[in-house]
Amino acid sequence: MRVLRLFTAIENRIFDILYARKFLTRKTPAIQHGCKDTVSTDWYSLVSIFKLIEVDKSEVLIDIGCGLGRVLIFWSKKYPSNRIVGYELNPIVFRECKNILTKKAEIYCRNVLLEEKIYGDLFFLFNPFGEKELLKFTKKIIQSNKKFKIVYFYPVHIDALSTLKKEILIEIIVIKSRVRAIHQKVVVITKK
Ligand SMILES: C[S@@+](CC[C@H](N)C(=O)[O-])C[C@H]1O[C@@H](n2cnc3c(N)ncnc32)[C@H](O)[C@@H]1O
Repeated sequence: MRVLRLFTAIENRIFDILYARKFLTRKTPAIQHGCKDTVSTDWYSLVSIFKLIEVDKSEVLIDIGCGLGRVLIFWSKKYPSNRIVGYELNPIVFRECKNILTKKAEIYCRNVLLEEKIYGDLFFLFNPFGEKELLKFTKKIIQSNKKFKIVYFYPVHIDALSTLKKEILIEIIVIKSRVRAIHQKVVVITKK
């Protein structure tokens, strides 16, 4: 198992260097300032998830809690015509991300939960929130958009959305790779 995770770690670093010219798996200076560190989604998971999800050229893609920007970099390559946006709460991580990113993606240092409305078509979440925040965020997305997709990777708090069953559809995708020891759930949330 450990050897297989090592394979994923090496794979992540190779793609980081190829696409970002920096490792996006390292500890950020944020932890030296008492903030929580950020964790990036594996490249393999990103490729697998977005093989299964249809994205139209007109869609605005938003990474909620973009960390060091791996998702934004991946989208910039895969969807060069789309508008790509990242929000990051932690100012230290945000600055690091800004240094890494090309001009293609827009990023903002903001707490998304304080935004009155959040407009977009596809929202990617890799556990930026706890249960209460996830519920608050999802309600805000429902209020702000007629149509949307929330791609919730590693959905540990999905039960928090049970009260919204009448308003949303939840589809579960499983990403598997034996050689990488990956068996991960992804939830796609859409409006009913
Ligand atoms: C697990 S990391 C995911 C990084 C990136 N999305 C990825 O998948 O590679 C979650 C990030 O969400 C950020 N975050 C947490 N709460 C947030 C909020 N309310 N607004 C914006 N960003 C937030 C954290 O600082 C952290 O960098």
